[in-house]
Amino acid sequence: MADRWAVISDVHGNVDALKAVLAEIDRLGCSRVLNLGDHASGPLAAAETLDVLMARDDMISVRGNHDRYLLTPRKTLGPSDAVAAAQLTDAHKEWLAALPATALVEDVFLCHGTPESDETYWLYDVTSQGDLVDRSAPAVTELAALAPAEAQVLLCGHTHLPRNVQLATGAVVLNPGSVGLPAYDDITPVPHVVQSGDAAARFAVMERGPHEWNISLHRATYDATRMVALALAHNRPDWALPLKTGWFET
Ligand SMILES: [Fe+2]
Repeated sequence: MADRWAVISDVHGNVDALKAVLAEIDRLGCSRVLNLGDHASGPLAAAETLDVLMARDDMISVRGNHDRYLLTPRKTLGPSDAVAAAQLTDAHKEWLAALPATALVEDVFLCHGTPESDETYWLYDVTSQGDLVDRSAPAVTELAALAPAEAQVLLCGHTHLPRNVQLATGAVVLNPGSVGLPAYDDITPVPHVVQSGDAAARFAVMERGPHEWNISLHRATYDATRMVALALAHNRPDWALPLKTGWFET
């Protein structure tokens, strides 16, 4: 049977979305799950999420920027990371600390943001007005040159927006979207909002064809009631609305 691999990213402690995605991935018969990081951060279920991820022996994971932040001193953490950090056991922290920043699995490269940074968007620029715009093909290709030359598929997460971009070199940059958080705001480089407009959990599947990987973007619906309640219990309406609607602002 052809290689069929699943790609997930940005779970952000949303264990109910994660379980829905993994059930779908198993139903599709994927032999491997590639996980691009930001596993636990957020006002949701960080410990439960890591328990699920750590139990999967078919999964290869890299570290996201928020996974890195979770392991820094508590007083420097933002509000989402602080809630997650308080839930973590030593075993969770050891698992997070052991994650590599990037990985190469056969001809597939994994990173969280770009090959060199877990805090940089690969496929988008943020304008000085705070609008998200598609990054130019030359700029996307320039970042791809930082990955190992043998990589035919370059996986990234971080923006929570599902998208795949074909490069002139024949390689593909693929962001599977976010499992657990479909919209958010950020203050760097300038204040901006990112919103997929779809409350479903997102993932991707790649199947090795005779000439290239065939890529498909998927969505899994799930009951977000418990995660919305957890966000509200932590006084985070800015998480509750995205979880319910897929939008940061309506
Ligand atoms: Fe993220």
